[in-house]
Amino acid sequence: MLLAVLLLLLLLLPPPDARSAHGHPLYMRLPPSTLQALSAQGTKALQAAQRSAQWAVNLAAMEIQHRVHECQGPGRPRPQDPLFRDPPEPGPCGERRPGTVNVTQAHGRIVGGSAAPPGAWPWLVRLQLSRQPLCGGVLVAATWVLTAAHCFAGASNELLWTVTLAEGPRGEPAEEVPVNRILPHPKFDPRTFRNDLALVQLWTPVSLAGAARPVCLPQEPREPPTGTACAIAGWGALFEDGPEAEAVREARVPLLSADTCRRALGPGLSPSTMLCAGYLAGGIDSCQGDSGGPLTCSEPGPRPREVLYGVTSWGDGCGEPGKPGVYTRVAVFKDWLQEQMNAAPTSREPSCRELLAWDPPEEPRADTAPPCAFYAHLCPGPEGACAPLAHQQCVQRRRRCELRSLAHTLLELLRGAQELFGPRPGMRRLAPALARPATSLRGPRRHPAREQLLHPGSRAAGMQLPKPRPEQRGDAHGCPGLEPLRQKLATLQDAHAWILQVPLERLAMDFQEVLADLGSKTITGLFPAWVRAGLGGRYVVFSSLVGLEPATLALSLPRLLVQALQTFRLTAQAEAEPTGARMGMRQDWRLGEKGKDPPHS
Ligand code: ARG
Repeated sequence: MLLAVLLLLLLLLPPPDARSAHGHPLYMRLPPSTLQALSAQGTKALQAAQRSAQWAVNLAAMEIQHRVHECQGPGRPRPQDPLFRDPPEPGPCGERRPGTVNVTQAHGRIVGGSAAPPGAWPWLVRLQLSRQPLCGGVLVAATWVLTAAHCFAGASNELLWTVTLAEGPRGEPAEEVPVNRILPHPKFDPRTFRNDLALVQLWTPVSLAGAARPVCLPQEPREPPTGTACAIAGWGALFEDGPEAEAVREARVPLLSADTCRRALGPGLSPSTMLCAGYLAGGIDSCQGDSGGPLTCSEPGPRPREVLYGVTSWGDGCGEPGKPGVYTRVAVFKDWLQEQMNAAPTSREPSCRELLAWDPPEEPRADTAPPCAFYAHLCPGPEGACAPLAHQQCVQRRRRCELRSLAHTLLELLRGAQELFGPRPGMRRLAPALARPATSLRGPRRHPAREQLLHPGSRAAGMQLPKPRPEQRGDAHGCPGLEPLRQKLATLQDAHAWILQVPLERLAMDFQEVLADLGSKTITGLFPAWVRAGLGGRYVVFSSLVGLEPATLALSLPRLLVQALQTFRLTAQAEAEPTGARMGMRQDWRLGEKGKDPPHS
């Protein structure tokens, strides 16, 4: 026993430069530059982990919101939302906030515009594919966003898309909403970009409580005269092939006549569905990433309103002399837009999102209720005979959706794993850094949109979860399916609490020490090691294996990251449920507050 204690003491308290009787060192510390590089990677892993945790929780919260909304009855306007109705007209629209109205004239930089004040374009939204911002869009009603059809080329799976709504005038975080349905214009031609327009239906309606507001749609085919100075806005590139803007940019561009435009752009321009705006002198234009965003012209009056006449579509380069930008003419699509937004819910096949949120009954019901009612229209017989068939079709489609969703989840997991511990890309960044100061590490460019979190307060992450809106709380009894969704949310919150509780400003991994025991070595060339790492001011110590040659070191570092993350997670979970036996854990971990020394130093 005494021997064991002595041994333990020996192991835990090695002098920093312990040497064997032959003068060989017994232990070796990883140098500070390696620890720094490791910490930088760890911090990135934490950030990614927090983002995906927040994402999962937000999604579950939105499912609840959607369910409650459905239980309250579709199409019934919410009393506190007089502004937002589907369909959009009539009602207030296109109103800008005072103090945000001074759109740049012909100077500065979109290409050649200037940074828009926060909240200047309440209808401007951002479309993300797997959380990667790809296009702009324009809010036109409570649940409808208008954008360019080409944004969905090759990526029409609505489950992969989300929409980030406009931020508030004081930079209040923008809300991110999943997409329920994508409706590209049926005549969109990807070769010519004719009819480059798509409607996107949001999963939850935009609430008046937020900063987003709809733009006005043209009420007649007539457009403002040539020369009218209209506004464009977006996060697109600052110049061709250039970086995307970090914040919304805006510019004024005059409308050009069809003749001028055709002369400039040649036969590629189809004036029946496209209009041009910009300067033949070049310099001010929309660019890559602005697609789907608004070209609005101000309608004068006692209360000026912005009306959407164009949706950013294409151009020949960006801001090139003689090459104005091309916008889809919204006014000519008025009927199609109204038709789509007014369509009865049962006239369309249910979306995957709707089907996945549906809990199919064991037995087909005698009548076909939403979301399956659509299929009842398809079979000829009397309603009673049709119901089982409709139910079957509906369930089959749901299965296909499940497969799509599963494939999506797997891809996300793979992406996440690559982002976190990607053996090659991650290590390629890390390995050379071992010989250099960590400051020379270059991670992927931070994208502000990727860090926008859904709810106010969640910037500091933590379990400051979406406070349910009053109407969101709903009554579980009157709303079937609500309780399981709530349980799912609670489970997710518990599972991710360890990372969500860490405030954003403290979300940093700090590898303080990795002490390798040179006394033994695995056949793969790794040495047992003690690791002390910190997260948000809390420290854990665990044992691991580490390589000391450049190649073995590079290979062993991802393991250290994973172990550190696991240890933090398990420690936090054990703290949250102190009786929860974690006896099976092989990790030798201990938790300490900052300031407590690791056992061996
Ligand atoms: N097609 C681009 C996009 O997808 C928009 C290009 C606009 N170009 C222009 N020169 N106005 O974002």
